[in-house]
Amino acid sequence: MTATKDVLLASDHAHLIHPLHNRAGHQEAHVWVRGTGSTLVDADGGEYIDGLAGLWNVVAGHGRSELAEAASRQMITLPYCSGYTGSSNPHAIALAERLAGMTYPSINRFFFTSGGGESSDTNFKTARYYFRQLGQPEKTKVISRQWAYHGVTLAAMSATGISGYWPMFEPRVPGFSHISSPYPYRYEAPEGISPGIAAANELEAKILEEGPETVAMFMAEPVQGAGGVLVPPDDYFPRIREICDQYDVLLAADEVITGFGRTGRMWGLEHWGIEPDMIQYAKAITSGYFPLGGTGVNDKIAEVLDESEEVWMHAYTYSAHPVGCAVAMANLDIIEGEDFPGQAAEKGRYLLEALQANLGNHPHVGEIRGLGLMVAVEIVEDRATKEEFAAEEKVGARINQAMQQHGLFSRMRGDVICLAPPVVITNDELDRVIGAVTTAIGDVLGS
Ligand SMILES: Cc1ncc(COP(=O)(O)O)c(C=O)c1O
Repeated sequence: MTATKDVLLASDHAHLIHPLHNRAGHQEAHVWVRGTGSTLVDADGGEYIDGLAGLWNVVAGHGRSELAEAASRQMITLPYCSGYTGSSNPHAIALAERLAGMTYPSINRFFFTSGGGESSDTNFKTARYYFRQLGQPEKTKVISRQWAYHGVTLAAMSATGISGYWPMFEPRVPGFSHISSPYPYRYEAPEGISPGIAAANELEAKILEEGPETVAMFMAEPVQGAGGVLVPPDDYFPRIREICDQYDVLLAADEVITGFGRTGRMWGLEHWGIEPDMIQYAKAITSGYFPLGGTGVNDKIAEVLDESEEVWMHAYTYSAHPVGCAVAMANLDIIEGEDFPGQAAEKGRYLLEALQANLGNHPHVGEIRGLGLMVAVEIVEDRATKEEFAAEEKVGARINQAMQQHGLFSRMRGDVICLAPPVVITNDELDRVIGAVTTAIGDVLGS
């Protein structure tokens, strides 16, 4: 470690509280100082491929001057103005109109937040408001899934289904419950029924258990990201849509990772030909250059919002931030102009196939899966039984360390390696990702 990095980290240890704060896990922290394209540079001068595009968000890569210029222009013109009723700004208006043309056909009305968790909260509250206006105030409950990640505000945490996020902050918000993830590698369906239908039917069972008159919303990521890149079977979401329609439950698609092309289509649910009632997005909308997220609602919800005499008392200071919206507009020029869905589909296929060729027969690789440029490698102790390594063996952490030694910085979910590099990653860099993952697994578990 250089003196500079020593000094920086000493001050960091003294004064910063980090997301998922954990002193032991921060001893060998990187202090990132620069980025170009898909490469991150830390204060030691070490260069790493940004294997998760920051936190799944930096799709356009680091160092895009068009995005910095859009922010700079807007900061000089008007750095901030209220977005509350009675105020608006041209970039927010243009962005909402543009999203109406880009998202699912029935979703034409948008609210902006500063990120994903605020967007989850916005959708929970909007669903409650909607049913209250329709004279069904008892319809308030939210059902989501195991392995879901919807953020960590108290309400979003209650919908998040990665249970490690709960214990130290209990009790969770009442009215949130979970069903299984359709996790194809691990979901066991009863005989005679496809795993996708069986996993979707759990939603019907849960709605009936809770009482359909009390359930407002089912929230789901089209592909579960932080939970380990879980791609549902093709028959899953069409059946989910049917169930939501049957019981008058709003379907909220959490497209915070899957939105804007990451899966090979502009929006995740496009893979299965269905439309949600509500969406939420964040991350890639600005490629992480400005904290911006938001929600979108379908025409029937928008109509209730417009026609109600009761004010929708929901608001954030930074909603429709003019700088964030200006950056988003410039970033959408990149996403659309450089065909990110097409690039993600092609590069993702290459990454998946190369990992399958290198690691498909490895005795400790249980599954290699993905959709578009979201890929995961699940490590197991025993391929036949799918049994995991004991947590004390810290296999995932050791593989992560080894990947860094080979120039790749990414994240694990336990012993699952998650990969979602910037969409602009070059073929040469993709080969380095493939090499680093393959070699790191060999270093820790043999070839
Ligand atoms: C699908 C999904 N929803 C919501 C969130 C929460 O977003 P934020 O961290 O901006 O609150 C995330 C963050 O990773 C996410 O992946």
